[in-house]
Amino acid sequence: MYLSRRPRRLRKSTSIQAMTQETWLKKEDLIQPLFVIDGNSPAEAVNSMPGVYRFNINELVRTAVEVHELGIPAIALFPSINAHLKNAVGTEATNPETLVIRAIKAIKAEVPELSIIADVALDPYTTHGHDGLLSEDGTEVLNDETVEVLEEMALLLADAGVDWVAPSDMMDGRIGVIREALETNGFKHTCILAYSAKFASAYYGPFRDAVGSSSAAGTHHLNKNTYQMNPANRREAMTEVALDIEEGADAIMVKPAGPYLDVIRDVRENTTLPVSAYQVSGEYAQIHAASQQGWLDLEKCRYESLLSIKRAGADMILSYFSQAIAPSLD
Ligand code: PBG
Repeated sequence: MYLSRRPRRLRKSTSIQAMTQETWLKKEDLIQPLFVIDGNSPAEAVNSMPGVYRFNINELVRTAVEVHELGIPAIALFPSINAHLKNAVGTEATNPETLVIRAIKAIKAEVPELSIIADVALDPYTTHGHDGLLSEDGTEVLNDETVEVLEEMALLLADAGVDWVAPSDMMDGRIGVIREALETNGFKHTCILAYSAKFASAYYGPFRDAVGSSSAAGTHHLNKNTYQMNPANRREAMTEVALDIEEGADAIMVKPAGPYLDVIRDVRENTTLPVSAYQVSGEYAQIHAASQQGWLDLEKCRYESLLSIKRAGADMILSYFSQAIAPSLD
């Protein structure tokens, strides 16, 4: 057969495959999310996330050092708050001595170069597990009242030395309010990583176990549909992204990642800002679960899942696989 084009020529050997590879996953692309608990009890395994633990602050610092030594540039911190500290309005979120603030200071004292990202949202602190304050009858998640609390939270986190505040709440207008608060209070170098296109996803299930926000709400079907986005909406994601950019975000996030690669690509093509993507707990859990059954190859699938997120256009990838996969990316 005479063929003028034979694409297989470029797949002939491993060296040609390497020469023509378009996307490379690097450890510098990765961010490791970490869960922290109060007290001195040893690490608690998160059942639905094999290999993921809730660490006390000492263990957290040790892990942060390991992450840094692996060459991963950043961690994202998530506190798992004692049930007795939660209430309907999430008072503990604005306690200047709250767990996450102490964790940030402890890590910064030990590995100042490691970049720290902290969520700004009320769900770890509220008994109902919502990201914001509820109306008196409990039927509405209040926007403007919530944003005021988030502003206070962001200032406390910035003051503790966090590098990035990451509003994950999806309230309207919060990026603008937080940006202005940071600018006017002397935190000109604190970055905002905006969870701009955060979808109301069932893939957050294992995370809610990890921080106790699902059981606190007494249901595994916590409905966040009035603030998180409809998974059906691709154009609306661009509206959210445009607003967050206008309001002062430094980087944009799409979340979850794997099921929303089209959205990551849209964002990449419509902004010059760094784009991040969060491979969430359920994406992690499903790869582990299938590999435990012997149905998927864990190492190959985790690599392919992350490479695909990079290929879609993400510059920074939050993944629970980061620490485990980093040594293989050298
Ligand atoms: C809450 C928050 C969630 C995640 C990060 N921050 C869950 C939610 O919105 O209920 C999910 C992360 C994951 O599933 O890994 N503000």
